[in-house]
Amino acid sequence: MAPSTSSTVTLNINGEKHTLSVDHRTTLLDALRERLDLTGTKKGCDQGQCGACTVLVEGRRTVSCLQLAVAAEGREITTVEGVAEGGRLHPVQQAFLDLDGFQCGYCTPGQICSAVAVIEEHAAGWPSAVTDDVRPEAGPPPLTPEEIRERMSGNLCRCGAYTPIAEAVARAAAQARTGAEEAAA
Ligand code: FES
Ligand code: FES
Repeated sequence: MAPSTSSTVTLNINGEKHTLSVDHRTTLLDALRERLDLTGTKKGCDQGQCGACTVLVEGRRTVSCLQLAVAAEGREITTVEGVAEGGRLHPVQQAFLDLDGFQCGYCTPGQICSAVAVIEEHAAGWPSAVTDDVRPEAGPPPLTPEEIRERMSGNLCRCGAYTPIAEAVARAAAQARTGAEEAAA
């Protein structure tokens, strides 16, 4: 008997479980868009170069066009449809709106998912390729425009809205810092 080329998987997306049968070659991106109607996540290059398909898997940025759906089983997946907090936009979403961090909007879901993770990665002290002092005792580097551009460099914007995108990330990061300081006080 020929080996089966499909499997039944249960994907945990935005806190909801979805069970579906998928061909083993199905990417997470295609499962989201074509099978589960979660079309917020966009397909740009379909080869891991543009970032339009970025989602969060266990809180880490993942280009869903390079992730097989079967490999995502049992992992916590967050798409742009799931980043809002209850009925309120996520601060990153609000900052993109307030500062016009988009033009056509096609790259925006991926930009927003990336930005959510960038802010958390930076707050956790992760260095980037442009961080001067990477010693652990140096603490998180200032989230300068250069740091933001480097950390967001996996997300391309063909409209060239990079300036307001970087400003939106900076604003949301500042709000997150203020919120963390108030919670700790
Ligand atoms: S569509 Fe996945 S990186 Fe471009
Ligand atoms: S807003 Fe159009 S591609 Fe980024």
